[in-house]
Amino acid sequence: MSEFESPIQKSPAIYSLLPDSVPCCADTCVLHSARSCRCSVKKKRAMRSGHKSGSGSLSKRDVTRDLTSIADLLPPDPTLEKLRQAARKCRACDLWRNATQTVFGEGKPNASIMLIGEQPGDQEDRVGRPFVGPAGKVLADALAEAGIDRSAVYVTNVVKHFRWEPGERGKRRIHKKPRASEIQACRPWLDAELALVKPEIVVCLGASAAQALLGKEFHVSRDRGQPVRSSLAPWLVATVHPSSILRAQDDESRQLQLRSLVDDLKGVARLLAETSAAR
Ligand code: URA
Ligand code: SF4
Repeated sequence: MSEFESPIQKSPAIYSLLPDSVPCCADTCVLHSARSCRCSVKKKRAMRSGHKSGSGSLSKRDVTRDLTSIADLLPPDPTLEKLRQAARKCRACDLWRNATQTVFGEGKPNASIMLIGEQPGDQEDRVGRPFVGPAGKVLADALAEAGIDRSAVYVTNVVKHFRWEPGERGKRRIHKKPRASEIQACRPWLDAELALVKPEIVVCLGASAAQALLGKEFHVSRDRGQPVRSSLAPWLVATVHPSSILRAQDDESRQLQLRSLVDDLKGVARLLAETSAAR
């Protein structure tokens, strides 16, 4: 374990239980007041070493800006619209460098269901809205079949910039899974969305979102569809990512996987009906 990796920094489960846990720096630190916070040390080291990244060596000024805290961007009296505007300027990890724009969450401001994906894809990056590409179409169809009105939910991602690499002939942009450090860097935006929307049920779409919110021990294939209690929302349910259905080997398995996604979402609709009835 390096000197910057405390058990707290490593554990999203512990992190999610902490009150008002907003990272104090743009990198891996989550606890400003904790003794484990080494932001200032890290910042100085980065400045000394010239901190090479992305498009080459950065100037002192760039390094300082790169490590600017998201906490500094968070508006004092936040609304979703103010957050969206503030997130446009986010440089808290390197992903903004190769992306077109920040893709912030959108949907009903006080939605009972918040769906959380991994990161914007190629089309989302161009359009600037979450789940508008092929995976979004699968999601919209599955929601409709499960009887969930898409306009009544809030949709977002654990990471707000598109991470990609050029395809073989250099034309297509191939999705690349975000790093744990990028998921952690972006977390304050998601926490701010959760704090404002206050959903009854959070639905994690795929392993990146599920493990970011429930920890590495959570396995979507094993635990999908099972509601768990969470400090982020009264209930949290994980299911597969709709893009996994697009990658199915053949039509038969595609249909089967789609049915399971719809079944998980029907479970979410039932859970919401039960919790609303109990209130
Ligand atoms: N995949 C995601 O996880 N999110 C999007 O917004 C689009 C595709
Ligand atoms: Fe900021 Fe998130 Fe974009 Fe990184 S991915 S620059 S943390 S908005």
